[in-house]
Order: sequence, then C-alpha cells, then structure tokens
Amino acid sequence: MSRVKIVDTVFRDAHQSLIATRMKTEEMLPIAEKMDKAGYYALEIWGGATFDSCLRFLNEDPWDRLREMRKAFKNTKLQMLLRGQNLLGYKHYPDDVVEEFVRLSIKNGIDIIRIFDALNDLRNLETSIKATKKYGGHAQGAISYTISPVHNINYYVEVAKGMAEMGVDSICIKDMSGILLPYAAYELVSEIKKAVDLPLEIHSHFTSGIANQTYMKAIEAGADIIDTAISPLGNGTSQPATEPMIASLEGSPYYPDIDFNTILEVSDYFKTLRTKYEKEGLLDNKVLTVDINTLKYQVPGGMLSNLVSQLKAQNSEDKYEDVLKEIPRVREELGFPPLVTPMSQMVGTQALFNVLSTERYKMVPNEVKNYVKGLYGKPAAPINEDIKRLIIGDEEVFEGRPADLLKPELDKYRNEINEYIEQEEDVLTYALFPQVALNFFKQRMASKYKIETDLLNEEEKTHPI
Ligand code: CO
Repeated sequence: MSRVKIVDTVFRDAHQSLIATRMKTEEMLPIAEKMDKAGYYALEIWGGATFDSCLRFLNEDPWDRLREMRKAFKNTKLQMLLRGQNLLGYKHYPDDVVEEFVRLSIKNGIDIIRIFDALNDLRNLETSIKATKKYGGHAQGAISYTISPVHNINYYVEVAKGMAEMGVDSICIKDMSGILLPYAAYELVSEIKKAVDLPLEIHSHFTSGIANQTYMKAIEAGADIIDTAISPLGNGTSQPATEPMIASLEGSPYYPDIDFNTILEVSDYFKTLRTKYEKEGLLDNKVLTVDINTLKYQVPGGMLSNLVSQLKAQNSEDKYEDVLKEIPRVREELGFPPLVTPMSQMVGTQALFNVLSTERYKMVPNEVKNYVKGLYGKPAAPINEDIKRLIIGDEEVFEGRPADLLKPELDKYRNEINEYIEQEEDVLTYALFPQVALNFFKQRMASKYKIETDLLNEEEKTHPI
C-alpha cells in the first residue's frame, strides 16, 4: 500500500474530450509555474489530437508548444500519447518515420510516452517502444480496454506480460470509453499486478459517471497512478475531476503526496478559462452530462457526437438509434476491436453505411477493407468469414507485422518540402499531416516575409533613398 500518484490531463485529453482540443499554448503557460510546484507525478500535455489541432485550428507549431512547456515545467514530467505505429495519424507509418518522431519528441522535452495500439497487437508497438528506450524516454505500454467475449482477464494479463517482455517501464489500462466498472477494475488490476512487476496506471473517462468508483477500487487493488483532470475541465467525457479524487483519499494510506492548496489555486485559474470557453460556445452541455448509452453500446463519447453530426449532414437524424444498435453488431463481425482511434471511426462509419444503404456492407470504406486484409494488425477474435468474403472476396489476408510492408519514407518527405524546412521537426509534421502542414509552412513563410518587408519599409522611411 502506498501513496497514489496523480497525472493531470488538462493540457491533452481533458480539452480534447470537452472542447475539441482548442486550448492554446498561451492559455497553458500562465499557470505552469504554479502547477510545477503542486507535486503531480506527470502532466499529459502532448500527442493525441493536440498536434493536428495546433496546426489545423490554432496556427501553432506543436513542436514550439512542446519546447515552451518543457521550459516552463522544470520539475514535473511531461507525458504524451502515441498510437504506436500510427503515431498521431490514422495509418501505419514506416519504422524510420516512427523512430525519428520518437527521437524528436524526447529531444524537445517529452519524458513519458504512452504507447497504445487499437487492436492491442504488440507488433504495432515494437518500433516505438524500442525507440523510446533508445533515446532515453520512459516507455509506457497502454492496453486498450474493451468488453467482449474474448477480452477477458486472461487476455489482458497476456497483453501486459507481452508489453513487459518488450521492456516497457510501466503499464496503463486505457479505458477510453469509461466502461471499466469498479469491481472489474479491482480484479483486472489485481491480476495484472500479480503477473507483472511494473507501475500500473489507470486511465478512464467520466462519460458514464462511474470512473471515480473505478479509480477507488483500482487503487485498493494496487494501481500506482491515476489520470485525472482539474475540475473545471474534468468529469463529463473528460477524466474524473482531480480535486474530489484527491479529497476522497483523505485518511487513507493512498493519499497522494501533493499540495492540495496549490491544486485549488490551479483550479481557480482553469475556472476562468472554462468561463471563457463557455462564452465562446466551445463547451457544449452534451459532453458534460452523464451518458449511460456509453455503457450500453460501449461507444466512446467523442464517437457519439461525431455520429450525430454525420447523421445531421445526411438529414437522417431519425436513424440515430438504428446506427447505435448497428455498432455492436459490426464490431462483433469485425472481431471485437476496441472502439478507439482509428477503429472507432471505422466501425462507426461502417455502421452508418450499413444503416443508410439498402444492403449491409454494400458500401465499405477503404480503411475497413485494409483492416480486413490484416493491414492494421490482428484483431483479438477472428473476423466473421461471411462478412470477410463480402468485403474483400477471396483476397489473401496479410498475417505479418503490418509495418514490414512499408519502405522507409523519411528522405522522400524531406525532399518534398525542402524549400520550407526551418527545423528538422518540419519533416515529421509534413509526414503526419501533409496538406495541413503545407498550409502551415506557407503561412509561416508569408508572415516571416511580411515582417521582413515591414522592416525594410521602416528602413526606407528612416533612411529615404
Ligand atoms: Co482518454
């Protein structure tokens, strides 16, 4: 029994879950000094959707954000979320791109890389775990948690053992939908702790309103670290709020080594920020209410809101219930993949297509075809044979490690954007989001040119020719 450690996700998952990842670096930095003294074990600040959002919506260089946060946090570990071989994108990248991305993430200030694969296919974690160790980072293996007839305790223990054999420094149970129930968590944590001698972290979402109880039982079973979000951006589809979670541990041996008064001051800062987001219309009430459907259909909160907007666009809002019911069916036919990026998008879109078209699997997105061909890895249960035939006919399924099919690409990317490169990180930005990156680079160049011409004009004014 020992004190539990706290990781606050306010700079990554919390705002990704509640306000579509729109928090700006300038809104993060003013509170950094205080947070750095609070006694957090780590702060999740980077990765996930933050990278894309910086470039696409905030006109920020995500690498600049990382460097500035590193400068501001002198004592606290900084953590990021990485989708294994998918990095921060939606497809598999070749090993050279993965290794370079990990190298530069660590070089620019990341301490802990949380690495997961949507299918828990350990082959998809190999390169990023190896690279993290090589460049001196802490590699955390994250198990994507889901519920199905094949995803039992034994399955998760085997995944955890596999990760330990690959040399991870800690393990995380990643419950992206908030469906891990308290007593299931107790058993799961107990069994993993028995099998693997590594720190264990619990990551859940408050979506269905049960994550606090889940954390309590997980802590009693021996979980070492929990992910919370400071209350103004906690609960709802985000992580359980930090302050009540800490207060709940008062009088127990688990009470974290953290300065509660400082946490309350941090909370005040984010209250102001939250009011601002409410005024801007960024914070929708829908993400704040308990959504018990997530337990019934095992659909993560973000996926539900996506679904609603896709149906709206098709003028088919009345089909919402039908699609919700179709999702578990598609998921079963596709081998029970956990509903996390990119599988949540695939299963969601396929369910939508099945409901909106006259025949099931008449329309199939390319990603789903590639998934069935084995190009995303191996699902926990076999894909339904009839459905497989419907989707890819007699085409052969690839059984190997998907990234073995990919040739090195770093040089190609470097050549393509040679004229825009200002830092080595730019090549990775481009590799991950080519179109968005190009727009960003062009704008960056244009604004620099403008500053230079402005300066020249100033010169002319003061020294007329
Ligand atoms: Co999450």
